[in-house]
Amino acid sequence: MLSGGPGSGKGTQCARIVETFGFKHLSAGDLLRKEVVSASEYGTMILDTIREGRIVPSAVTVKLILREMESSDNHKFLIDGFPRSEENRIAFERITGSEPDFVLFFDCPEEEMVKRVLSRNQGRIDDNIDTIKKRLKVFEALNLPVVDHYEKRGKLHRVGKFTS
Ligand code: C5P
Ligand code: MG
Repeated sequence: MLSGGPGSGKGTQCARIVETFGFKHLSAGDLLRKEVVSASEYGTMILDTIREGRIVPSAVTVKLILREMESSDNHKFLIDGFPRSEENRIAFERITGSEPDFVLFFDCPEEEMVKRVLSRNQGRIDDNIDTIKKRLKVFEALNLPVVDHYEKRGKLHRVGKFTS
Protein backbone atom coordinates (compact mmCIF):
# COMPACT_ATOMS: atom_id res chain seq x y z
CA MET A 1 0.00 0.00 0.00
CA LEU A 2 1.08 3.52 -0.67
CA SER A 3 0.06 6.47 1.44
CA GLY A 4 0.71 10.20 1.37
CA GLY A 5 -1.05 13.55 1.42
CA PRO A 6 -2.73 15.22 -1.55
CA GLY A 7 -0.17 15.90 -4.28
CA SER A 8 2.62 13.95 -2.58
CA GLY A 9 3.18 11.95 -5.79
CA LYS A 10 1.37 8.68 -5.06
CA GLY A 11 -0.01 8.18 -8.56
CA THR A 12 3.21 9.22 -10.27
CA GLN A 13 5.40 6.86 -8.27
CA CYS A 14 2.90 3.99 -8.45
CA ALA A 15 3.17 4.03 -12.22
CA ARG A 16 6.96 3.66 -11.87
CA ILE A 17 6.81 0.98 -9.17
CA VAL A 18 4.37 -1.06 -11.24
CA GLU A 19 6.63 -0.86 -14.28
CA THR A 20 9.56 -2.24 -12.30
CA PHE A 21 7.87 -4.73 -9.97
CA GLY A 22 4.80 -5.88 -11.91
CA PHE A 23 2.08 -5.18 -9.37
CA LYS A 24 -1.49 -4.44 -10.35
CA HIS A 25 -1.99 -0.76 -9.44
CA LEU A 26 -5.28 0.17 -7.79
CA SER A 27 -5.87 3.84 -6.99
CA ALA A 28 -8.78 4.35 -4.59
CA GLY A 29 -9.23 7.95 -5.79
CA ASP A 30 -9.28 6.86 -9.46
CA LEU A 31 -11.78 4.07 -8.73
CA LEU A 32 -14.05 6.56 -6.94
CA ARG A 33 -13.78 9.08 -9.79
CA LYS A 34 -14.58 6.30 -12.30
CA GLU A 35 -17.64 5.40 -10.26
CA VAL A 36 -18.84 9.03 -10.47
CA VAL A 37 -18.82 9.02 -14.28
CA SER A 38 -20.32 5.53 -14.53
CA ALA A 39 -23.78 6.66 -13.39
CA SER A 40 -23.53 4.48 -10.29
CA GLU A 41 -26.11 4.85 -7.54
CA TYR A 42 -23.34 6.25 -5.34
CA GLY A 43 -22.12 8.77 -7.94
CA THR A 44 -23.64 11.91 -6.44
CA MET A 45 -22.61 11.01 -2.89
CA ILE A 46 -19.03 10.28 -4.01
CA LEU A 47 -18.78 13.51 -6.00
CA ASP A 48 -20.07 15.60 -3.08
CA THR A 49 -17.63 13.86 -0.72
CA ILE A 50 -14.65 14.41 -3.03
CA ARG A 51 -15.61 18.06 -3.53
CA GLU A 52 -15.58 18.52 0.25
CA GLY A 53 -12.30 16.61 0.63
CA ARG A 54 -13.96 14.14 2.99
CA ILE A 55 -13.65 10.34 3.00
CA VAL A 56 -16.19 8.16 1.22
CA PRO A 57 -17.71 5.47 3.50
CA SER A 58 -15.58 2.33 3.56
CA ALA A 59 -18.43 0.08 2.44
CA VAL A 60 -18.34 1.77 -0.97
CA THR A 61 -14.57 2.07 -1.40
CA VAL A 62 -13.75 -1.45 -0.20
CA LYS A 63 -16.33 -2.86 -2.60
CA LEU A 64 -14.69 -1.06 -5.54
CA ILE A 65 -11.22 -2.25 -4.55
CA LEU A 66 -12.37 -5.85 -4.04
CA ARG A 67 -14.13 -5.88 -7.39
CA GLU A 68 -10.82 -4.97 -9.07
CA MET A 69 -8.82 -7.45 -7.01
CA GLU A 70 -11.19 -10.29 -7.81
CA SER A 71 -11.21 -9.59 -11.54
CA SER A 72 -7.42 -9.31 -11.84
CA ASP A 73 -5.12 -12.13 -13.03
CA ASN A 74 -2.34 -10.54 -11.03
CA HIS A 75 -2.23 -11.41 -7.34
CA LYS A 76 0.23 -8.72 -6.26
CA PHE A 77 -1.47 -5.41 -5.65
CA LEU A 78 -0.20 -1.89 -5.12
CA ILE A 79 -3.07 0.04 -3.55
CA ASP A 80 -2.68 3.80 -3.60
CA GLY A 81 -4.64 6.25 -1.45
CA PHE A 82 -6.18 3.57 0.73
CA PRO A 83 -6.67 3.16 3.68
CA ARG A 84 -7.29 6.87 4.24
CA SER A 85 -8.77 6.47 7.71
CA GLU A 86 -8.90 3.95 10.52
CA GLU A 87 -12.44 3.18 9.36
CA ASN A 88 -11.05 2.30 5.88
CA ARG A 89 -8.29 0.16 7.37
CA ILE A 90 -10.50 -1.76 9.78
CA ALA A 91 -13.18 -2.41 7.13
CA PHE A 92 -10.60 -3.73 4.67
CA GLU A 93 -8.97 -6.00 7.25
CA ARG A 94 -12.33 -7.32 8.39
CA ILE A 95 -13.62 -8.03 4.90
CA THR A 96 -10.44 -9.48 3.37
CA GLY A 97 -8.94 -10.97 6.52
CA SER A 98 -5.58 -9.60 5.39
CA GLU A 99 -3.12 -6.80 6.02
CA PRO A 100 -0.68 -5.14 3.66
CA ASP A 101 2.84 -6.64 3.58
CA PHE A 102 4.48 -3.29 3.04
CA VAL A 103 3.30 0.31 3.45
CA LEU A 104 5.15 3.12 1.73
CA PHE A 105 4.48 6.61 3.08
CA PHE A 106 5.44 9.81 1.27
CA ASP A 107 6.13 12.32 4.02
CA CYS A 108 5.92 15.50 1.98
CA PRO A 109 5.95 19.09 3.33
CA GLU A 110 2.53 20.76 3.14
CA GLU A 111 3.64 23.72 1.07
CA GLU A 112 5.14 21.36 -1.49
CA MET A 113 1.91 19.36 -1.69
CA VAL A 114 -0.16 22.54 -2.18
CA LYS A 115 2.21 23.75 -4.91
CA ARG A 116 2.07 20.42 -6.72
CA VAL A 117 -1.72 20.09 -6.56
CA LEU A 118 -2.27 23.65 -7.82
CA SER A 119 0.07 23.15 -10.76
CA ARG A 120 -0.99 19.72 -12.00
CA ASN A 121 -3.94 20.78 -14.21
CA GLN A 122 -5.75 17.46 -14.32
CA GLY A 123 -9.17 19.12 -14.27
CA ARG A 124 -10.06 17.71 -10.85
CA ILE A 125 -12.86 19.46 -8.96
CA ASP A 126 -10.91 19.05 -5.71
CA ASP A 127 -7.67 20.65 -6.91
CA ASN A 128 -8.55 24.16 -5.74
CA ILE A 129 -7.12 25.94 -2.73
CA ASP A 130 -10.30 25.69 -0.58
CA THR A 131 -10.67 21.94 -1.08
CA ILE A 132 -6.92 21.36 -0.70
CA LYS A 133 -7.02 23.00 2.74
CA LYS A 134 -9.84 20.65 3.72
CA ARG A 135 -8.00 17.64 2.29
CA LEU A 136 -4.89 18.51 4.30
CA LYS A 137 -6.95 18.72 7.51
CA VAL A 138 -8.62 15.39 6.78
CA PHE A 139 -5.24 13.87 5.96
CA GLU A 140 -3.84 14.95 9.30
CA ALA A 141 -6.87 13.94 11.35
CA LEU A 142 -7.76 10.65 9.67
CA ASN A 143 -4.83 9.37 7.59
CA LEU A 144 -1.93 10.00 9.98
CA PRO A 145 -3.42 7.64 12.62
CA VAL A 146 -3.30 4.90 9.95
CA VAL A 147 0.34 5.71 9.28
CA ASP A 148 1.06 5.48 13.03
CA HIS A 149 -0.70 2.14 13.18
CA TYR A 150 1.46 0.64 10.44
CA GLU A 151 4.57 2.17 11.99
CA LYS A 152 3.80 0.34 15.25
CA ARG A 153 3.27 -2.87 13.27
CA GLY A 154 6.72 -2.44 11.71
CA LYS A 155 5.25 -2.21 8.21
CA LEU A 156 5.85 1.45 7.47
CA HIS A 157 8.57 2.64 5.11
CA ARG A 158 8.82 6.40 5.12
CA VAL A 159 10.14 8.43 2.22
CA GLY A 160 10.92 12.11 2.77
CA LYS A 161 11.58 14.14 5.85
CA PHE A 162 12.83 12.38 8.94
CA THR A 163 12.14 13.58 12.44
CA SER A 164 14.14 12.64 15.56
O1 C5P B 1 -6.04 9.85 -3.63
P1 C5P B 1 -6.74 10.98 -4.30
O2 C5P B 1 -6.09 12.31 -4.04
O3 C5P B 1 -6.96 10.73 -5.76
O4 C5P B 1 -8.19 11.06 -3.64
C1 C5P B 1 -9.10 12.08 -4.03
C2 C5P B 1 -10.29 12.09 -3.10
O5 C5P B 1 -11.00 10.84 -3.18
C3 C5P B 1 -9.99 12.26 -1.63
O6 C5P B 1 -9.74 13.60 -1.27
C4 C5P B 1 -11.27 11.72 -1.00
O7 C5P B 1 -12.33 12.66 -1.06
C5 C5P B 1 -11.59 10.55 -1.93
N1 C5P B 1 -11.04 9.29 -1.38
C6 C5P B 1 -11.76 8.64 -0.37
N2 C5P B 1 -11.29 7.47 0.18
C7 C5P B 1 -10.12 6.94 -0.24
C8 C5P B 1 -9.36 7.58 -1.26
C9 C5P B 1 -9.87 8.77 -1.82
O8 C5P B 1 -12.82 9.12 0.03
N3 C5P B 1 -9.68 5.81 0.33
MG1 MG C 1 -3.81 9.81 -6.93
